[in-house]
Amino acid sequence: MPGVPQHVAIIMDGNGRWAQARFLPRAAGHRAGVSALRVTINECLTKGCGIVSVFAFSSENWRRPPSEVGLLMQLLLEVLEREIDALSDKGVRVRFIGDRDSLALPLRERMGAAEARTSANSQLTLVIALAYGGRWDLVQAARVLARQCLGGVLSPDAIDEQSLGAALALAQLPDPDLFIRTGGERRISNFLLWNLAYTELWFTDVLWPDFGARELAEAFAYFAGRNRRFGQLTDTPGGSTC
Ligand code: FPP
Repeated sequence: MPGVPQHVAIIMDGNGRWAQARFLPRAAGHRAGVSALRVTINECLTKGCGIVSVFAFSSENWRRPPSEVGLLMQLLLEVLEREIDALSDKGVRVRFIGDRDSLALPLRERMGAAEARTSANSQLTLVIALAYGGRWDLVQAARVLARQCLGGVLSPDAIDEQSLGAALALAQLPDPDLFIRTGGERRISNFLLWNLAYTELWFTDVLWPDFGARELAEAFAYFAGRNRRFGQLTDTPGGSTC
């Protein structure tokens, strides 16, 4: 559909405050957040937006109290078990980005199983950032390139935006066209630092569990009205809008 972003990246902020306002435990906010994500994925499938990247757990989230970290990890395990069939039936391909080595084995195994189970799907790619940070991503890409240089397959002088981009977690996917952050903060918070270079940014005070079809339509309408110049004077058809 014209004006629809091909790739939307989302920081789903505000689950805790949503629960607090209702005198509910934080877990209830995160569970409501999973429902909001389901709605967003369905809307993106309907509207023809083919890639949704969500920040489910950041490198910095490890600093939360152990009870909250445990809660989020348990929820992720549960959600992967419960939702994967429904996602797969809708043609969703699931892909994880982040520092897998920092995650517990049962979760890593379930992530691998979800990726394998959905790998042939092509209606929508759901990128779940887990134990992810944009700076971590740049560091791991630098290590990949350094190893290639040491192995003699790459010359340091040949390192360019393309080779660095190919070593990043989102390699093979186009950069996000639209970034959405709920919950009132106006920050990128170490999400996809490299890939968001030319992304249109949209912020809302709405808390993530309250984010639905209306809010997504509002964000897409904002995106459709943007004039994307990618640093040039006129629109570039080579950009990643569809
Ligand atoms: C931010 O709200 C939200 C998170 C740190 C977790 C988001 C995770 C989910 C919605 C679960 C997603 C599940 C899958 C499988 C992708 P917050 O806790 O920072 O809220 P606050 O700012 O109001 O405290």
